[in-house]
Amino acid sequence: MRTHHCNELRPDNNGQTITLIGWVNSARDHGGVIFIDLRDREGLTQCVFRPDESAESAKLSHSLRAEDVVQVTGSVEARPEIDGKSTINPDLPTGEIEVAATDLVIINKAEVLPFQLEKELSNEDLRLRHRFLDLRRPRLTRNLRIRHLVTKAARDYLDARGYIEVETPILSKSTPEGARDFLVPSRMHHGSFYALPQAPQQYKQLLMVAGVERYFQIARCFRDEDLRADRQPEFTQVDIESSFTDPDQIIELVEGCLAAMFEAGRGLNISTPFERMTWHDAMDRFGSDKPERRFGMEIADLSELFAESGFKVFSGAVANGGVVKAINAKGFSGITTGQVDKLTEIAVNHGARGLAYIQVRGEDPGTWRSPITKFFSKEELAGLKDELEVEEGDLVLFAADKWQAACEILGRIRLECASMQGLLEGKENEFDFLWVTEFPLLAYDEEEGRWAAVHHPFTRPVDEDRTRLESGEYEGLRAQAYDVVLNGHELGGGSIRIHEADMQATMFKALGISEEKARAEFGHILDAFQFGAPPHGGLALGLDRIVMLIAGEQSIREVIAFPKNNKGADLMTSSPAPAAPNQLRDLQIKSAAREQKDQ
Ligand code: AMO
Ligand code: AMP
Repeated sequence: MRTHHCNELRPDNNGQTITLIGWVNSARDHGGVIFIDLRDREGLTQCVFRPDESAESAKLSHSLRAEDVVQVTGSVEARPEIDGKSTINPDLPTGEIEVAATDLVIINKAEVLPFQLEKELSNEDLRLRHRFLDLRRPRLTRNLRIRHLVTKAARDYLDARGYIEVETPILSKSTPEGARDFLVPSRMHHGSFYALPQAPQQYKQLLMVAGVERYFQIARCFRDEDLRADRQPEFTQVDIESSFTDPDQIIELVEGCLAAMFEAGRGLNISTPFERMTWHDAMDRFGSDKPERRFGMEIADLSELFAESGFKVFSGAVANGGVVKAINAKGFSGITTGQVDKLTEIAVNHGARGLAYIQVRGEDPGTWRSPITKFFSKEELAGLKDELEVEEGDLVLFAADKWQAACEILGRIRLECASMQGLLEGKENEFDFLWVTEFPLLAYDEEEGRWAAVHHPFTRPVDEDRTRLESGEYEGLRAQAYDVVLNGHELGGGSIRIHEADMQATMFKALGISEEKARAEFGHILDAFQFGAPPHGGLALGLDRIVMLIAGEQSIREVIAFPKNNKGADLMTSSPAPAAPNQLRDLQIKSAAREQKDQ
């Protein structure tokens, strides 16, 4: 029945009789003549109801309200000149024409909406409660379509390279990816639970053992962790695994896949190969394993300069095997006291004991504003000026701590300064792709008092570090792991895997997992590796983050049809929700929350 979409009529169609179906985007009464903008997913067309041309439908059109669903039939006409002025709307693809309506069918009336669709709304919860309306906005309709195109491009690209898509279970078993699991109680096995997969990691490795060789999946993953703009409890990965491969092959494959995705979603030609940087360099220079490099402000090491300093905070840190590091926020000496307090709070929240700074006002260090320069010698001041290229108007910020802590603290401060200074404004169209390589294999968890996998327990050490893993020297071991980063966001991560049962057992031991526990939790992997497991490796891309960056959005919630809010709730369906007593009875589960309520 539909003859045209609301975005396709042009002067070429003038004189044709056509039918449009859609929503009333807006209705205006101009002295008895009703103008409506009719909207469908493709765009808008102006329809005019003139009483002298079609009395009945013009009369009916007076009752139209925003978001009514209507069918309009009429003839396509050039927009007229009125009083010598053109009525063409150059901002609209259909702005040269209008439809002179002869028939109107009101298919379904709409109540007054809880919010206006044209206006941006800061109350996100209100948007999410009525997501079916929110998604009618052109920006969100566009985002859904970009997501479709990007996903399809990834599928087509991987298919063309011989990767086959295999679905793996959602009702599965805990995979240690570092977050908390979502559990699903079993009705048939009382007291036992499925875990929703944090990633298909073990299944995809088992598919390699099964001889699949090249696997991919647009895979839904579930992690019960604190939510942020780029984190949801359920999200989607482009999950990839390949046998008989090496890091270079995976990196080349993923670069091609990302290029296809950016081309499809934004018509952007990204240049490959991407630069590579070791994890150590990324931490040392940018204080992050996902460096944002679209502005400078690199972290400098001043440990040597301050090793003997009269300022004991600095010399003491160096004497204890730590470092003194600093950044120069160029031109930010005008920082306000409130901003200094905010930076200090961020530093302290990340474990710093303080945040020493210098506001460089005037040529002579004597006139600089700082709580610490009074402790510095002439040589220290000169060296500082030299190493950080300090000029009048700059702001220097220091961290004295263990190497990694100092890097991480200044990494945070660097990003916050850039945001306070607006350094990324106007750089929305710069895309800085980067590989971060040679991640550490293990990191010591002070709280738990044990070593933990930096990536996950299936990641392979670099060959040179293997014997040290076996002999229990865990400090400084490097992994064959790599992350792909864009503008300070981790887009994806992967590694070459362990494929030998004995090395996997050694790894579990390093992580403090007893043999019995390893058997109970990972027996299937250890077994599988005994029956001719091929060497293999892979990576997973965060699809939501990629689509967010392609669409130019600030949050992945804008590119997910039905996201959870920042408290993990779906406000539209009111989930999570209490379970009915009979459901709980079937599962033999008692809800403490429910009992408290009933009392
Ligand atoms: P990793 O845990 O690094 O690796 O996840 C891969 C990518 O998934 C995205 N991501 C998320 N996106 C949105 N919300 C979240 N909560 C979230 N968590 C992660 C990120 C991340 O880079 N199995 C391994 C991959 C492998 O080794 O092949 C894994 O899941 O963009
Ligand atoms: P204090 O001598 O403790 O009063 O510190 C002097 C200045 O150095 C204050 O501005 C502190 O915030 C700062 N500071 C203290 N400890 C550190 C540290 N480990 N790294 C960087 N700055 C610090």
